[in-house]
Formats: sequence, C-alpha cells, structure tokens
Amino acid sequence: MASVNFRSINICVIGTGYVGLVTGVCLAKIGHSVICVDNNKDKIKKLKKGISPIYEPGLSSLIKEGIKKGRLSFSEDINYAVKNSDVVFVCVNTPTQKNGKTDLRYIKAVSREIAKAMNGYKVIVSKSTIAVGTSQKIKEIMKRHHHPKLKFDIVFNPEFLREGSAVDDFLHPDRIVIGAESEKAKRIMEQIYGSVKTPIIFTGIEASEIIKHASNAFLATKISFINTVSNICEKNGGEIEEVALAMGLDKRIGKDFLKAGIGFGGSCFPKDVAAFIRVAKDSGYDFKLLKEVQRINFNQREQFVKKVQSLIPNLKNKKIAVLGLSFKPNTDDMREAPSIDIIKMLLVKKAVIKAYDPVAMEKAKDIFKNKITYGSNMYEVMKGANAVLILTEWADFLKIDFKKAKKLLRSPFIIDGRNMFSPEKMANLGFEYYSIGRKKL
Ligand code: UDX
Ligand code: UDX
Repeated sequence: MASVNFRSINICVIGTGYVGLVTGVCLAKIGHSVICVDNNKDKIKKLKKGISPIYEPGLSSLIKEGIKKGRLSFSEDINYAVKNSDVVFVCVNTPTQKNGKTDLRYIKAVSREIAKAMNGYKVIVSKSTIAVGTSQKIKEIMKRHHHPKLKFDIVFNPEFLREGSAVDDFLHPDRIVIGAESEKAKRIMEQIYGSVKTPIIFTGIEASEIIKHASNAFLATKISFINTVSNICEKNGGEIEEVALAMGLDKRIGKDFLKAGIGFGGSCFPKDVAAFIRVAKDSGYDFKLLKEVQRINFNQREQFVKKVQSLIPNLKNKKIAVLGLSFKPNTDDMREAPSIDIIKMLLVKKAVIKAYDPVAMEKAKDIFKNKITYGSNMYEVMKGANAVLILTEWADFLKIDFKKAKKLLRSPFIIDGRNMFSPEKMANLGFEYYSIGRKKL
C-alpha cells in the first residue's frame, strides 16, 4: 500500500462522527498514526473497545485492525492529542441554522482548544463542510488564542464521502481537493495522501470551500431536475428510467444522480444547498435556482402522499406499512430522511403507521417517539395493512415474497418511492402498484 518514500505522519482527528471516524480510520489504514478525539464519552468508550457507533460497511473491521496495529487510538483529550500530532483534522459537525447560516460554534470552540494546545508547528485541516471564508475565520481564532511564536498553516480538505460507501469513497476518491496557502502545508498534505491513487487538486482556500458546496448543490440539482422530469413523464405516459438512461449516456450529463424518487435527504445535501443559498445571499446574489431545487425536493414528498391518498382517500385509522426509514440504504442515518416528512403528513391525516427498517429503527425512535410502531421484519408490518409504502431502497426488500405479502395485506396497494419493482410484474401479481415517473398499469 505505501510507496517507497512513504512517511507515517502523526495525525489527530477531532470529531468522530460519520466523517471524522471514517477519516481517522482510513488515515490509519493507509499507514499514519492517528488519535481520534471526541467530546462524546459514550462514543469514545465504544471506540476504545473497537465498536463503531455508526453503521458504515467495512468500518468496524478497519477500527479493530487499526487498534491492533497500534496506529489508531481514541481519546477525549484534545490537548494531549494535539500535542502528539503534526496535523490536526477538524471534523466536528457544522449544522445549518434555519436561515441557512452555518453554525460555527463547534468549529470555533475546537479551534480555540487546538490553539491553546499548540506545542509547535501544526497543519490544521478542516474537513467539516464550511462556507467560503470560514477557514480565514478559523485562522483569526487560532491567532487570538495560540502562543505568538508558534507557526501553523490552515488547509481546507473537503470530504466527498457518501454514507453507506464512505470507506470506499475515502480510499478510492475521484479526486482529493486541498485548499492551502503555503508550500510547506501542501507538501505535508501530499505525504498524507501519497498512497491514495487519485489526482490531488491544489487550489486556493476560498476555491476549495466553494468546490464542496458547489459539488453537493449541483448533485442535488440533478436529482430535483430528474424528479421534475418524472412528473412530466407521469402526466404524459413516458417511462422515467428510459429517459434517465438515454440522458445519462451523454458523457456531459453522466448517468449518476438521475434516479427519480421521493427526493434527497441526508446530513449533507439539504444542509449544503441551504448553506450555499445563504453564501450567495451574503455575496449579494439570489440563488433562485437552488431555492427551486429545495421546493421541488419537498414537493416530491407531497406528491408521494397524494399518491397514497389516491388509493386510500380517507386515511383516518387506516393501517399503513412503511418499508425503509433511513435517508438511503446501507446507513442508519435518519437526518432529513424523506420518511420523516412523509410519515408526519400521514399522521396529520390520522393514518396508523407501522414501520420496518433493517438498521435505522433505533434512530427513528428518537424522531417519531411513540407516534408510530415498529415491526421486527418486513412481513410483520404488512399484517392487516391497507397499503405498503417503500421509502428506502434496501436490497432486503427486493426479496419480498409477494404471494405471502398479498395474503397479509388487507388491500393489495403498494406505493413505491424508490422505483424498486417493475409495474408490469406488480400488475401481474395483482397489486395496485404506484411508483415515480412511470405509468400505472
Ligand atoms: C459533519 C458535518 O455535519 C458535515 O457537514 C461535514 O461535511 C462533516 O462533518 P458528521 O460527521 O456527519 O458530518 O457530523 P456528526 O456525525 O454530527 O459528527 C460530529 C462529531 O463531532 C460528533 O461525534 C460530536 O460528538 C463531535 N464533536 C462535536 C466534538 O467532538 N466536539 C465538538 O465540539 C463538537
Ligand atoms: C452526499 C454526496 O454524494 C457526498 O459527495 C457528500 O460528501 C455528502 O453528501 P450522501 O448524502 O451520503 O452523500 O448520499 P448520496 O448517495 O449522495 O444521496 C443523497 C440523497 O440523494 C439520498 O437521499 C438519496 O436517496 C438521494 N438520491 C441520490 C436520489 O434521490 N437520486 C439519485 O440518483 C441519487
């Protein structure tokens, strides 16, 4: 894995969430010596035992491997970790407030703690998504709190990790973006990522901050675009998959992120689109295109509920089976999941919801409390239900035994928000099957 002139670097990663933990574990995997820090005692306690606090394929085994090789350790003590590192990655959460402004309280608090702990030259690398101009603010904070004789450089190194494939995305990225101001910092970052086979793009700090927001906003725009086209398909009898396939074969468009459905969720797209609209506003520009991307995205959820109602006009006390709660498959993350808005709209109409998700039910309970009930498997929730809603395209659901499902259901209604099945097949099985951007047979 390591090239001949590889040098292991002492690194500390602050924040062991979806991004920080994957970053720390993978940096240890490629040969560096990493201390992961978090102020959440439970997380650190679990991690010290090699238990991952998040569901991410491949992560647990890498945690255990890193600990075993003595390259990965966990601590709550920022002071100790910074003093024993040459490079500090900041991966604390950067929530977006209602007005779109990024909440920098955690970044600011951690920057102060790093500054006070400095005992020599460090490179401070922010991975948390931040609005353009934030790295300079971090620099100002550091200057105010650190020993004037000590030198440091700041770097912005945006993450492009998709949940559910974050480990693979880290080890095999399309590109690594490094926003840096000094040659020294660039050289050190080159050493950190030297063994990752991918282009490293060096840019100015401001450009690197904009790249992250612009990339996520563009991907979200693609999704809202194809979702709008799916509505046009429904009105005119076209098949959205045929349209998306033919569009995507044009290399300038690209096949990815053209899957119509109930829209995007997660901890990034909704937050980064809102943040980029705010960045534009603060720069004197009204980013109307992105506001429309947000509106379309919410409208997909409303459209979906209308489809449910077209099959069951009076939802009061009707039993609805929900398959899938997480914002996408292969993750337990419920942040901004479409299921949250959809279930809330159905509860307003007094529907009775029973949900199943392979991994996200524990996190869902914090959100829905006792407003919905949960099943231990996909068939339990179908028992006596008036309809089945598919909100997350978990591979498990592809194995549904529809003969068994039909016997369990009170009425053979399936409304599929992620186009998992073929309308023809479902019609032949005797289901009223609604999906997105496809004709209803
Ligand atoms: C975060 C941002 O939300 C995202 O926008 C950015 O792209 C990457 O970093 P994520 O890792 O999903 O993404 O955040 P989260 O899962 O909330 O993890 C943040 C971690 O930092 C938590 O474990 C939290 O306990 C920790 N933290 C937060 C600290 O250790 N110290 C703090 O002061 C604040
Ligand atoms: C995204 C970006 O892909 C990643 O680069 C960035 O660092 C963080 O945000 P993530 O949010 O984990 O990653 O998931 P992603 O796979 O991008 O999906 C985001 C949302 O878009 C999900 O709700 C997914 O269901 C939806 N989506 C994705 C679609 O509706 N259609 C698509 O074609 C693709």
